[in-house]
Amino acid sequence: MILVVNGPNLNLLGEREPEVYGRTTLAEIEALVRDACKAWGLSVKAFQSNHEGALLDFLQEHRKSARGVVLNPGALTHTSYALHDCVKSISAPVIEVHLSNLHAREEFRSRSVIAAACRGQITGLGMRGYLLAAEWLCAEVGKVPREGGTL
Ligand code: DQA
Repeated sequence: MILVVNGPNLNLLGEREPEVYGRTTLAEIEALVRDACKAWGLSVKAFQSNHEGALLDFLQEHRKSARGVVLNPGALTHTSYALHDCVKSISAPVIEVHLSNLHAREEFRSRSVIAAACRGQITGLGMRGYLLAAEWLCAEVGKVPREGGTL
């Protein structure tokens, strides 16, 4: 099972600053990731919260069963040492994803306190960043693509 976890304000994708974040909704992104993972025989559990503690609780709950995590922490990227520590407690690979290019925006966005705890980071590739992260995780987990069925 692959986790797709989104932090504060990402529930507003599609309406929120579409010139920065695009017009695809979070539900659409989750559905695309679910389809991509299904082709590898892996199921997806998606979660979004505007609350730091709820994100920590969700990640802790699934930290042993997840085979990989796609994580967009939203603005918690720049502030949350608690999320950094939580990511470190997960043995499966965690990929940090950002729709926008953090390095081409305000100064405060160029620093991620989460990145060092992650296996890798994708930033600036829009919603396709989620798909690329999911594909990488599926390949890393080593499942042979097959028709139907989920793990
Ligand atoms: C974001 C970038 C963050 O700086 C911002 O706070 C977000 C979205 C992105 O996906 O580009 O909420 O994580």
